Amino acid sequence: MTGETHDEAGPQGLASALVAGGALSSEWLPAFTAVRRELFVPDRIWPGIADGTRQNPLVDRATDPGAWERAVYSDIPLTTQWDDGEHQGNGLGTTPTSSGSMPTMVASMLRDLDVRPGDRVLEIGTGTGWNAGLLSHRVGGSNVVTVEYDPAVAQGARENLQRAGLAPTVVEGDGRQGWAEGARYSRIIATCSVLEIPPAWLEQSAPGAVIVAPFGTEYGGEQIVRLTVNGDGTRAVGTFTGGSAFMRIRQQRTERPPFDDYLHGVEWPAGAERSVTALSPWDTGNWFRQFVIGLGVPGAFWRAERYEDGAYTLWLYSRDRQSWASADYVRDRTEYEVYQSGPRRLWDEVEAAYCWWDDRGRPGHERFGLTVTPEGRTAWLDSPELPVPRQG
Ligand SMILES: C[S@@+](CC[C@H](N)C(=O)[O-])C[C@H]1O[C@@H](n2cnc3c(N)ncnc32)[C@H](O)[C@@H]1O
Repeated sequence: MTGETHDEAGPQGLASALVAGGALSSEWLPAFTAVRRELFVPDRIWPGIADGTRQNPLVDRATDPGAWERAVYSDIPLTTQWDDGEHQGNGLGTTPTSSGSMPTMVASMLRDLDVRPGDRVLEIGTGTGWNAGLLSHRVGGSNVVTVEYDPAVAQGARENLQRAGLAPTVVEGDGRQGWAEGARYSRIIATCSVLEIPPAWLEQSAPGAVIVAPFGTEYGGEQIVRLTVNGDGTRAVGTFTGGSAFMRIRQQRTERPPFDDYLHGVEWPAGAERSVTALSPWDTGNWFRQFVIGLGVPGAFWRAERYEDGAYTLWLYSRDRQSWASADYVRDRTEYEVYQSGPRRLWDEVEAAYCWWDDRGRPGHERFGLTVTPEGRTAWLDSPELPVPRQG
């Protein structure tokens, strides 16, 4: 992921850079040059990765067309909506809720999808419509269905696609339900992340269908999973292909209650158990490690309270508002203070999940996989017979 602009401007320059970086495969090159991203990008955009605490600077085509064009043909995501459109883009939002995805990510997910002529493709999360446009160029608009939850976003995408001369079916609805009228699909791709693979996607899959989706955990971290569906849509199995950071499908966002909800009216530390640990909270913090921890510690999330000199408190919370823990990170220490309260010992669970991964030689994403059945999903390491253990 370069996040840089390229000497050769426009779609050709962006496509060449994606090929050079290894994300864009040769079968997709004609689509990336023909389906111009600029036709899908609104005039007001917030380029770059949002950090979740404030809005990135606005780029407005009307006042700075050069900056707008540079952003469009850079390898960066472009936020197009904040807070489900609540603020109408007037500069108040904090949570990006619709975007044009980062071109490297679009290209590598399409490569994972392994589309063949004649495939019927379902996309979840239309956004700007660019990905649906690329798919339509490749397999024909009549073979592409794309589902968008937000009516205004769906309408914008329809107009963009029409301007580009492409005509997939754009459906307004909850993508967790797929779109039964167009089934069965040989390829399903989600461009918003999920905590669970919805059963409808399997039910609407043709035998041998491929599902590519950003799969997150409530704790944090996210990886693209590539699943193959069996003959009768009752089981899908596959491995993770690499990291991603998509916006969550709207119905599966993690609710993060305030700390006071966990104290139940009692003053901190509210009888919490104190201990010390030799595991640095810092070591649990990167995106992939969060993902691995999240596989073993469901129903929990974290927040960091930052102080001077890089010190911080890692707060852990259970989704059910019952349990919390804190672990204090201070630079150059070898022991860290921990408090835990409630029926779950959340730091102990996080530490156990981390040690499980560490003891196995710190395996990378390619050794992890997922099995999905109507009963639920199981994450595994190396083989579907070796599930990631649930801690606690
Ligand atoms: C990252 S954007 C998609 C980018 C898009 N594919 C493109 O090419 O520009 C994610 C989109 O998923 C949509 N979304 C969120 N929850 C959804 C749901 N339940 N069903 C369908 N779309 C959903 C959001 O409204 C947002 O537009």
